[in-house]
Amino acid sequence: MAVPLSPRNQHRFSVAVVGLGSIGGVAAACLAEADRHEVIACTRAPLERLTLEREDGATMRMLEFPLRSLADPAAAKPVDWVLLCTKTHQTESAAAWLARLCTPQTRVAALQNGIDHVARVGPLTNGATVLPVIVYYNGERLAPDRVRMRQAGKYDLVVADDASGRAFAKLLDGTGLRILISDDFTTLLWRKLLINAIANPITALTLQRQAVLRRPDIQELCHAILAEAIAVARANGARVAEDEASRSIATLMTFSGELGTSMYFDRLAGRRMEVEALTGAIVAAGERHGIATPVNRALLALLRAVNDAAGKAG
Ligand SMILES: NC(=O)c1ccc[n+]([C@@H]2O[C@H](COP(=O)([O-])OP(=O)(O)OC[C@H]3O[C@@H](n4cnc5c(N)ncnc54)[C@H](OP(=O)(O)O)[C@@H]3O)[C@@H](O)[C@H]2O)c1
Repeated sequence: MAVPLSPRNQHRFSVAVVGLGSIGGVAAACLAEADRHEVIACTRAPLERLTLEREDGATMRMLEFPLRSLADPAAAKPVDWVLLCTKTHQTESAAAWLARLCTPQTRVAALQNGIDHVARVGPLTNGATVLPVIVYYNGERLAPDRVRMRQAGKYDLVVADDASGRAFAKLLDGTGLRILISDDFTTLLWRKLLINAIANPITALTLQRQAVLRRPDIQELCHAILAEAIAVARANGARVAEDEASRSIATLMTFSGELGTSMYFDRLAGRRMEVEALTGAIVAAGERHGIATPVNRALLALLRAVNDAAGKAG
């Protein structure tokens, strides 16, 4: 039988959330609400409070929490856990935080899209253990101190069924975040990437919301992108279905055409887009396995050109 958590029988960990945007803001607020650990936000500007808007049935609940934040990496001390929640291309810019927060005993949960979390984050963490986390919830930063969370499906986060994944799930006990501990994490990682690899580039390059994915000619393009990406996914050990391409497209058709994507919003705002971790990861993994990816490579060239025009990392 589970032992009920009480301040006396639980261990309070120190948890640093690096990047208090849409995903990090929600994670920090959920941890603050549970009040089981010492949470510190590592931000570029100081913050004292955080408001979480969360759908509760038909109503939107507003929850406000006091927040400890640091805006200078030099003031950071080693912690038990880091939740790294920057965009993937901002990981390097968070290196000063990671250098101060991490020791070999630290666990770094990377709540980022893509498939290469360990390779991207590992070299910056002083030998800490890096664990990739798939994010299923939708986060939206409404202001620097206000985030909105929308939950869809059965789970909010997915981790691998290993010691770090299980420790992460325990860390978030009591937060209300629904965590799937998966024994086929690689497949779920790729499944998420397949959806991102069509919706993000197409909406960003056409500057149209997801309704554009309903055009028959665009659906043909989606199938071409996915055929390459699925071959690469299989070579990487993902056990994707025979009809995975149709499933990915069908999933996207369940979303409102009014929705954007993160690349679309980043392009609209003139910010850099997460190109290398999505389309770039498919092309790079294809190269490693000797699988040609000409359609993804063409998208990558276009996206890189847009990114370069957007200037410095946003
Ligand atoms: N949003 C979603 O619903 C969603 C869903 C699934 C997966 N994801 C993935 O989750 C990851 C995070 O995305 P997001 O939507 O949360 O991005 P976001 O809203 O842009 O948040 C990123 C945050 O990181 C901060 N940051 C960047 N560099 C920093 C640094 N050096 N030091 C401190 N803070 C820094 C940014 O601060 P500034 O405000 O100062 O720039 C921003 O607050 C991405 O990989 C994304 O693809 C997002």
